[in-house]
Amino acid sequence: MNKLFLMGLLVLSFAACKHEPEIIGNNNNNPIVPDTTNTPDPSDTLICFETEILPLLNSNCAMSGCHNATNPAEGIMLDSYEHIMNSPRNDLVVAGNAWSSEMLEVITETDPDKIMPRPPAAPLNQAQINLIVQWMNQGAQNTTGCSGCDTTSFTFVANVQPIIQANCNGCHSGNFPSAGISLVNYAGILAQANNGKLLGTINHLTGYSAMPKNQPQMSACERTVIQKWVQAGANNN
Ligand code: HEC
Repeated sequence: MNKLFLMGLLVLSFAACKHEPEIIGNNNNNPIVPDTTNTPDPSDTLICFETEILPLLNSNCAMSGCHNATNPAEGIMLDSYEHIMNSPRNDLVVAGNAWSSEMLEVITETDPDKIMPRPPAAPLNQAQINLIVQWMNQGAQNTTGCSGCDTTSFTFVANVQPIIQANCNGCHSGNFPSAGISLVNYAGILAQANNGKLLGTINHLTGYSAMPKNQPQMSACERTVIQKWVQAGANNN
């Protein structure tokens, strides 16, 4: 047998049992390369746990039947900083060493029986994974009161879409989005802006289901940003 072929086999079999982060699907089709190092870039601004990480975990992981506080799968609750950091899996989050943490392992899995969130829920996209990596490598701190939310900025791309992505896409994305409503792109969000449901659901108005479902209402600032964007014509800006 050919030596080169044997070597190839060896390399392949090694690759198969290593837990390398995979380039996985991105809801926006933006190829964002994951940061696979554990070195925080000093020029990176501090990730805000309260507004950037917690809503992401709440909507993708802490839904009922999964990792909420009522009946948490494997006792792992991902609904608050205290619960996340005092998990029964003590390597769930390894501060300063994201790629040793169990959370990174499961969100970057390619095996459908192991990846979190489990299909049919959509996997986290690379921008979301990068945020979690950065947050962990920056020390997995409980950064609060650091909301970058500013009611005077309300463009779709820079302001509205990140809010929706963090708070809604855990359920409203993928092949089977909740209520058949996908909120991953402009067209999907525009449809709900135009039929009144976007503002009705986030402002908890009578006649609409309160969103994000079973989770705390979004901050007044975030709701104002979305409202101003809708009122200004819901443009793709
Ligand atoms: C944890 C899962 C989950 C999250 C997070 C979530 N939704 Fe929903 N959403 C659902 C489910 C399930 C339904 C359908 C059942 C219902 O109405 O309660 C739904 C229904 C809706 C509807 C239709 C409601 C109606 O009254 O017709 C809209 C619009 C909506 N969601 C928007 C949002 C927005 C905007 C966000 C983020 C701010 C969000 N959802 C976050 C699960 C979720």
